[in-house]
Amino acid sequence: MSEGHEAVNCDGRAQSWATRRLKPSSPRRGEPAVHMNDQMRRLSTPWSIAVERSIRISNSEFLPGVLLDPACGSGIHLAAMCLETGRVGLGIELDEEAGKFAAANMNRLLEKGNGPGRISNRILIGDGVDAEGALKTYHDSLEDSGISSTPPVSLLHIDPARPLDAQNHTLDEMAPPIGELLRSWVPHMNQDERGPALLLDLSPRLSRKQRGEIDAILNEVAPGAARTWEWLSQGGGRIDRLSVWVGPLASESSHRAIRMGQKTPLRTVEAGSTSPFISEKRGMPPSFDQWIVIVDPAVVEARLHDAWLTSFDAPEYNPIWQRASLRRPILVSDTPPPNSLLDDPFTVAVGRVCGHRLSSPDMENAPTVARAAERSGIGHLVLRCEVDPELHPKIQKRLNKALKGVEGERGFIVDVPVSRGDNWHVVHVTCIES
Ligand SMILES: C[S@@+](CC[C@H](N)C(=O)[O-])C[C@H]1O[C@@H](n2cnc3c(N)ncnc32)[C@H](O)[C@@H]1O
Repeated sequence: MSEGHEAVNCDGRAQSWATRRLKPSSPRRGEPAVHMNDQMRRLSTPWSIAVERSIRISNSEFLPGVLLDPACGSGIHLAAMCLETGRVGLGIELDEEAGKFAAANMNRLLEKGNGPGRISNRILIGDGVDAEGALKTYHDSLEDSGISSTPPVSLLHIDPARPLDAQNHTLDEMAPPIGELLRSWVPHMNQDERGPALLLDLSPRLSRKQRGEIDAILNEVAPGAARTWEWLSQGGGRIDRLSVWVGPLASESSHRAIRMGQKTPLRTVEAGSTSPFISEKRGMPPSFDQWIVIVDPAVVEARLHDAWLTSFDAPEYNPIWQRASLRRPILVSDTPPPNSLLDDPFTVAVGRVCGHRLSSPDMENAPTVARAAERSGIGHLVLRCEVDPELHPKIQKRLNKALKGVEGERGFIVDVPVSRGDNWHVVHVTCIES
């Protein structure tokens, strides 16, 4: 064993140790039971996301070799990749307890057996950045199990831990630091002219500048390799995952937006080129009877909003983009949006303007807001504007109470920026849903 890494077999022993320590439980509804302490649970990738990605990985052709996760946490992403590709997994984890739980989780999640592939799965406790040390420990450990081959690494998946205030952190604060890690591993990877197969799972809050820094690292370690940046949303009005797929894992497009359903993607938009997002400044709020569409932020963040709109092939629909907030890009038009857009998974809500108000809905004015909506024929009003996240459910509850028993359409209230010279203010626009 080389100094610094300890190899743990993914077998019944690891599972018994973990079971004595902490009973397995399901981290989220519908997910398999695994061993995770609170910290691991907070950092873990949702099982459905890990499986969906692994299915896509299994559909790409990359060279033979083991799958590496050099900051594997609970090991569930590694296990999903092994299950879907039928390949062997090598995980590395700095935290000893987490690493031992990861070995147990691999054993729980992978198919049982004692063939050479099954007994080659390992979790190493130690520093994921030290490629040479890790490979030596791995190969020594395989030899101890009677396996004389020294399989190369052919895919690297990395989901580094990031500081909680992800917006202000530098890339070096990712643990492990991504540049150092890639410089250490990529030279050891099995790769052809397409470059190394890499999947980087990054903070969805990375700034444009930080994404540029990631691009610079990739230009250095994998020059010329294709790359697809992917923004994924689960429909909650925010970007849930940001990832980069490199080399054999990249598609022909440089940018991709995915609206994920419970288990499978509901819609994917991708393109080789993107367009800048131009939010039109208006001196007046959208007028009564104009149409508003609230769009999932993933297509806008990915700069695929034009590709998305073009996909509806509706030349008579000429909306302008206005961005209410980072979470709620909106389209405003004089004509109704095409039916295909109404049904699109990236469409959050569609409605016709029926009211304006200057002040934000709050606990006091909620009954008044509800009465005004009722006069416009609305029987259920959903808040889709920026309000204090703690107050949001309370105000919504008050609106529901005020409209209880009222027959009418569904509606929503959204905040729209309106410019006055160099300043801008927000108008709260009520819409009847269609
Ligand atoms: C975001 S978590 C990975 C979560 C994992 N994808 C899962 O589904 O459970 C990142 C992990 O990297 C580990 N880590 C941080 N620095 C490391 C290093 N230098 N070497 C190995 N692991 C490291 C942390 O302990 C943490 O468990």
